[in-house]
Amino acid sequence: MKVCVIGTGYVGLVTGVCLAECGHHVICIDNNEEKVKLMKSGQSPIYEPGLSELMQKSAQAGNLEFSSDLEAGVAHGDILFIAVGTPALPTGDSDTRYVEAVARGIGAHLREGYKVIVNKSTVPIGSGDWVRMIVLDGIAERKKEEGSSNEAIKAEFDVVSNPEFLREGSAVFDTFNPDRIVLGSNSEKAIALMQELYTPIVERKVGTDASLPPVPVVVTDLSSAEMIKYAANAFLATKISFINEVANICDKVGADVTQVAKGIGLDSRIGNKFLQAGIGWGGSCFPKDVSALIHTADDYNYEAELLKAAVSVNKRQRLMAVEKLQQELKILKGKTVGLLGLTFKPDTDDMRDAPALNLIEQLSRLGAKLKAYDPIISQSGMRHGLSDVIVESDVEMLADGCDALVLVTDWQQFLKLDYAKMAKKMAHPVMIDGRNFLDPKPLEAAGFRYVGIGR
Ligand code: UDX
Repeated sequence: MKVCVIGTGYVGLVTGVCLAECGHHVICIDNNEEKVKLMKSGQSPIYEPGLSELMQKSAQAGNLEFSSDLEAGVAHGDILFIAVGTPALPTGDSDTRYVEAVARGIGAHLREGYKVIVNKSTVPIGSGDWVRMIVLDGIAERKKEEGSSNEAIKAEFDVVSNPEFLREGSAVFDTFNPDRIVLGSNSEKAIALMQELYTPIVERKVGTDASLPPVPVVVTDLSSAEMIKYAANAFLATKISFINEVANICDKVGADVTQVAKGIGLDSRIGNKFLQAGIGWGGSCFPKDVSALIHTADDYNYEAELLKAAVSVNKRQRLMAVEKLQQELKILKGKTVGLLGLTFKPDTDDMRDAPALNLIEQLSRLGAKLKAYDPIISQSGMRHGLSDVIVESDVEMLADGCDALVLVTDWQQFLKLDYAKMAKKMAHPVMIDGRNFLDPKPLEAAGFRYVGIGR
């Protein structure tokens, strides 16, 4: 099938590349010329395991192209994905101006024939109908400009909401191995085309284990599909805030949250995933989506108390490492703290809404000297929000002279560090394990005082 993906951020690029791998002919559109140039040369603008390889493979096979020409993209695709960002506004609402611009642009370039316009961006509930209206506006504006009569342009289209659930760092895997595919539309014709598009993924023909059962497809109306995305993220964020709250109580009573999580997670009604206590959730989705859902509820005069509590537990949790440092070192002014990891989670270069940023702000305010090592940030030039931090290029140099280390991100390589060597280089070998990631026993044997979150 012919596909056009507009917007090459995490979601758009991964979707475009994976649909090309399915055998579809995909054009990815972005208005950033530099980025288009980079992608044309076979390089991915984001760090995502497996993405560059697939990108190059499909580009060579001729079914993946990059362009900044929206008109050509719209003409090419029978299915047009809108995958531009919807960042959070200071009010907590989503900023939908990029979606609006793209929808208007699509309208301006629609010619004869039927198109499916797919909302892949996480948009406020009700946006499906709003996108339809904007596309119609775009068509009307062009008609006016060209002086065409209504009959001259027979553009026909339907809008589908197709939210994504991919995680950064395993986005390619998640695209080929989804737990479900959600398709929301009031048009049977559009749903049928979307089902055809996803057949290679549903039938496990590409990028996965062919013996697995088919992927369930959930067909809903537009608003329910939009709500599914918010409800899923809000549930997961609340689940993490829940276990973090339990961890804090564990700390008080002397219980171990890792054992508690195992004990409750084996209850199939609860499930064992997303019960890793730590210094809280961050990233580009959870904070934005939870606050957008709270705001939607507000718009209808409903106070989403549980969601607000999940957010405030998370806010407090992000500074839990500071509290633990104060317990261990007392006065932090003049003390040197080394951060192991900076990104909001491992296997990504993403620092958006990362707990590390709150930690850095608070520790700097308290007068601590800060050093950090992150497997990706240390090598990249990315230093936004890190002006108060010495970013070391070598993990052992990080330990040098530190009064304490805080494990901020659970990168796999942190399991294999030479902690005995690092302890020797430190003024006080204290490890605050902000992700309950390390095994306390070997760490204590290496000379560290180990402090976890709720364990
Ligand atoms: C999330 C959703 O998982 C995904 O379905 C959606 O499409 C986008 O948002 P992502 O933001 O990439 O994906 O990260 P995820 O792996 O879900 O982690 C989010 C945050 O929660 C991270 O900061 C992580 O460290 C934290 N987390 C996760 C915990 O603190 N404990 C856990 O048990 C799991």
